Amino acid sequence: MFARIDHIGIAVEDLDAALALYERDYEMVLVHREVVEEQGVEAVLLDVGENHVELLAPLGPDTPVGKFLAKRGPGIHHVAYQTTDIVAELERLTAAGVRLIDETPRTGIRGSSVAFLHPKSSGGVLTEIVQPSHEGH
Ligand code: CO
Repeated sequence: MFARIDHIGIAVEDLDAALALYERDYEMVLVHREVVEEQGVEAVLLDVGENHVELLAPLGPDTPVGKFLAKRGPGIHHVAYQTTDIVAELERLTAAGVRLIDETPRTGIRGSSVAFLHPKSSGGVLTEIVQPSHEGH
């Protein structure tokens, strides 16, 4: 079972320009900023109550987010649901017939464990499952 929405992932061309909107105008608190080479992004997490917004800027045009921006422009990229046991959740989803991009969890930002479901199985919405690390929240 999903515990709650962990974050909404938003693809942006320019992180600092996006932060002018989210941090300055929306007054969200920036809690983390990290380059994730493996995923080809620089990511920023902002707090919205107990949930987050994740801004994603591509490290280059040939990265997944770079290709997303070229095709669809800036905007909502994915929805992430939080779970306390990602391995059990992925097993349950597989048994339910949901296709996965990540068969096993990989490391996300702030040491979280993450896995993406296949958009063809999730109604066209790129969906991420997140189990936060103990240091996160
Ligand atoms: Co995410």
